[in-house]
Amino acid sequence: MPDKITVSVIKADVGSVVGHSRPHPKMMAQCEEILRDGVRAGTLNDFYVTRVGDDINLYMTHHKGENHRDVHGIAWEAFRQAAKIAKDMKLYAAGQDILKDAFSGNIRGMGPGAAEMEFVERGSEPILFFMADKTEPSSYSLPLTRIFMDPFTTTGLVIDPRAHEGFRFEIVDVIDSKKVVMSSPEEIYDILTLLGDTTRYSIKRIFSKDAGIGVASVVSTEKLNICAGKYVGKDDPVCVVRCQSGLPAVGEVLQPFMFPQLVAGWMRGSHYGAWFPCSVDKSDPTFFDGPPRICCLGFQISHGKLQGLEDPGSPVGVHTPVDFFAGDEWNEARAKAVRASIYMRRHGPFMPAILGPEEMEYTTRPAVIAKLKMRMEDVE
Ligand code: F6R
Ligand code: MG
Ligand code: MG
Repeated sequence: MPDKITVSVIKADVGSVVGHSRPHPKMMAQCEEILRDGVRAGTLNDFYVTRVGDDINLYMTHHKGENHRDVHGIAWEAFRQAAKIAKDMKLYAAGQDILKDAFSGNIRGMGPGAAEMEFVERGSEPILFFMADKTEPSSYSLPLTRIFMDPFTTTGLVIDPRAHEGFRFEIVDVIDSKKVVMSSPEEIYDILTLLGDTTRYSIKRIFSKDAGIGVASVVSTEKLNICAGKYVGKDDPVCVVRCQSGLPAVGEVLQPFMFPQLVAGWMRGSHYGAWFPCSVDKSDPTFFDGPPRICCLGFQISHGKLQGLEDPGSPVGVHTPVDFFAGDEWNEARAKAVRASIYMRRHGPFMPAILGPEEMEYTTRPAVIAKLKMRMEDVE
């Protein structure tokens, strides 16, 4: 059996400057130091530390498999130390996603989000890393179904013999913690019946039907509101997609983001706004704490390590990924996203600008209803 490699992306919001905008560079440097120690200790092969808006994202490659205690422990320690720096500097929301005091062996349920995939590295292994801010995991359902189910997006589904076989979707019910694996194209309408309800169903994984390829995509689906028992912040999820050679091409994977779909989670976790594709550098929330951002960085996985635009043999962890939404062709989507977001804002505190009552992160509704109880009369 050839060696398997694991790609783990673990992310958390542990404080930012100014308000909920971006982590301080010292926090990022601290994370890099801890991950570098993880390489020295032989736990990690390689890493890259980046961010989207106020969320720190740790990309790691290793041979330990998913949910490994040592790998999750490194990420936990990085976030804990970054949170400490944020607290010392009195940065905003310092330590927000650190929900527990002591690490229990796995980061899931402790606040951070994780997307991990284990696979046999192909002859060449292009991977896209999507990172979102001010939104939730089910926001990826629309683009992922377009990429992996829609031949008008991915012509490869029609003309590439391996992609033509279709894909398997692992769908989670984030409220009841249940999952089901469904097959495309046979069950497309049933799949969309579930995924259309973005308040409950989300894609966790997608698999190629070619056993030689295996997992194609994974999304972080931890719902912070549920694992904390109350809503303490949005998930701001990540999604990893393997591309090419029997999978959708890089360009097919990027195409759906040209449509600035409305996603939930903007401002106070309580509004719909249009997804704004941008470079990591441009991912600070600037308008009404948004609009919700989507960034995409690309790496080749090469001999178990990350390969970007840097020279081979560069210091460990020092990388230059391709920043896919940096280009001018995305200006069109950005302009549309701003126009759609302004349109939504005109509704002020009315639906559909705000989320449904069960999904609101902030609400005064129970208190107001309680206050009015005695004054409520039957309608004649
Ligand atoms: C946080 C976020 C923000 C906050 C808002 C209110 O990621 O998206 O929109 O929800 O700025 O924050 P507080 O209540 O901390 O003043
Ligand atoms: Mg935040
Ligand atoms: Mg965030």
